[in-house]
Amino acid sequence: MLPNKRPDDMVRITTPELAQAFIDEQVAAVREQVGDKKVLLALSGGVDSSVVAALLIKAIGKQLVSVHVNHGLMRKGESEQVIEVFRNQLDANLIYVDATDRFLDLLAGVSEPEKKRKIIGGEFIKVFDEESAKLEGISFLAQGTIYPDILESDGVKAHHNVGGLPEDMEMELVEPVRLLYKDEVRVVGEALGLPHNMVYRQPFPGPGLGVRCLGAITRDRLHALREADAILRDEFDKCGLAATVWQYFIAVPDFKSVGVKDGKRYEGWPAIIRAVNTKDAMTATIEEIPYDVLHRITDRITHEVDGINRVLLDLTPKPIGTIEWE
Ligand code: XMP
Repeated sequence: MLPNKRPDDMVRITTPELAQAFIDEQVAAVREQVGDKKVLLALSGGVDSSVVAALLIKAIGKQLVSVHVNHGLMRKGESEQVIEVFRNQLDANLIYVDATDRFLDLLAGVSEPEKKRKIIGGEFIKVFDEESAKLEGISFLAQGTIYPDILESDGVKAHHNVGGLPEDMEMELVEPVRLLYKDEVRVVGEALGLPHNMVYRQPFPGPGLGVRCLGAITRDRLHALREADAILRDEFDKCGLAATVWQYFIAVPDFKSVGVKDGKRYEGWPAIIRAVNTKDAMTATIEEIPYDVLHRITDRITHEVDGINRVLLDLTPKPIGTIEWE
């Protein structure tokens, strides 16, 4: 087990060489800790759990059992990328659970944001629990805990952490990146060969699109949100904003306005663009998006996404607006 405090003389991992040294050291440590036993990991596809998975695959190969639960609230292409990278490229022992229907059925008609979060968090644990109960001979639980999680253990992530696992799981923990800062985890991830867009991906809340499909989630509006969000990300990639904006996404509220399409009345939802910069997510400023980019995004979303007939821009810093809408 690694200590709880980062040693004062621990060098910040900023280069591929330093990352490689860290990887070699942790591969040896994990092999020593785990022996020939099996390790379980909840693989969300986020930076931390992905880097832990890649590191453990390197150390113990198929002794790592990764479980990816798709709660149906992932962004477009995310679960597919987890399968492609881990199962197809890294030959991981990956269990993929498409639990979309379970989550969306439970969430039907629920409009209160905290209730939605609770349902998503609770169901996640249930699904993960059920999957792990089917497995035999698991002795360790791997987690993507990073140093800020330890420093802020009563802070944001603790109460936000939807990937939180059942407390009664009696397994020894394997936490190879627990002394690293986020930027170091990314350098290590790249050294492990993970795709750049996975390692540098923007923060994404555990409840996923669930807190951006505002009010009671419906499948058609969730679909529209996912498609509009994919267009926003694509356009931000193309114009370079993806590299400078900390977090950007679409939220879709549960009301419609009147529009006109092909000469006919067309009622649709608005897509709200939110793009913010921040250091610690406690406060956030608004990123300027050039008007030509905004026009292109608007044109694409209103033409390509069924059900959306307007595009709006959220100009509210935090405070007073939180980053997410719910
Ligand atoms: P807010 O909306 O509180 O968001 O300004 C601050 C940061 O936290 C993320 N966030 C969450 N992350 N589960 C998470 O894992 C959540 O329920 C959650 N809510 C907000 C948000 O995306 C932003 O980066």
